[in-house]
Amino acid sequence: MSGGTDDGRADSDLAITPALAGDIDPVMTVMADAFDPAFGEAWNAAQCLGILNLPGVWMLLARHGGQPAGFALARIVLDEAELLLIGVRPAFRRHGIGSALLDRVKQEAQARGGARLHLEVRDGNPALHLYHQRGFARTGCRPGYYRGADGRSFDALSLSTGLDPATA
Ligand SMILES: CC(C)(COP(=O)(O)OP(=O)(O)OC[C@H]1O[C@@H](n2cnc3c(N)ncnc32)[C@H](O)[C@@H]1OP(=O)(O)O)[C@@H](O)C(=O)NCCC(=O)NCCS
Repeated sequence: MSGGTDDGRADSDLAITPALAGDIDPVMTVMADAFDPAFGEAWNAAQCLGILNLPGVWMLLARHGGQPAGFALARIVLDEAELLLIGVRPAFRRHGIGSALLDRVKQEAQARGGARLHLEVRDGNPALHLYHQRGFARTGCRPGYYRGADGRSFDALSLSTGLDPATA
């Protein structure tokens, strides 16, 4: 099995592989489906390809039954890793794919010498449930940092988790 979860929902149809520039089309398929346009959080292909060129940046693509289902984008500088984006298409949610991607990001960050994995998320995003379940704790808040399409503003919450090899 490639990918899968540690919570009993291992899935032999799930494959998580490193995504390179040549995988940008399936990644953008997921991006277009996964992110609510109301929040303007999706990146375009040029943004993804641009950051992929930088040192310490990597991307993962999750396919389920061969179909693009999810992706994650992350980077590491020295021993501080950051999850930049994670998305799972609505039709594939709540089957452990987001958890499996996050666990693979943690493993890769640790393998690259990371001591902590950080992320920032809009307050109220249901992804917070996933992050808390996966061991992240809040480390800070930037009030009103995000602005939705309707002009509403949202706090940005900073979260992080340690990358102990025994728990990553
Ligand atoms: C966040 C996201 C990646 C989760 O993907 P997923 O594949 O559904 O996640 P999982 O199935 O691994 O969820 C694991 C657990 O996290 C929690 N969780 C995940 N999504 C949740 C939701 N919408 N509401 C409540 N809890 C949720 C649950 O505890 C879930 O376990 P359960 O299904 O057994 O209850 C997905 O909802 C998504 O793409 N959201 C839009 C993009 C986004 O906002 N990304 C984060 C910012 S970059």
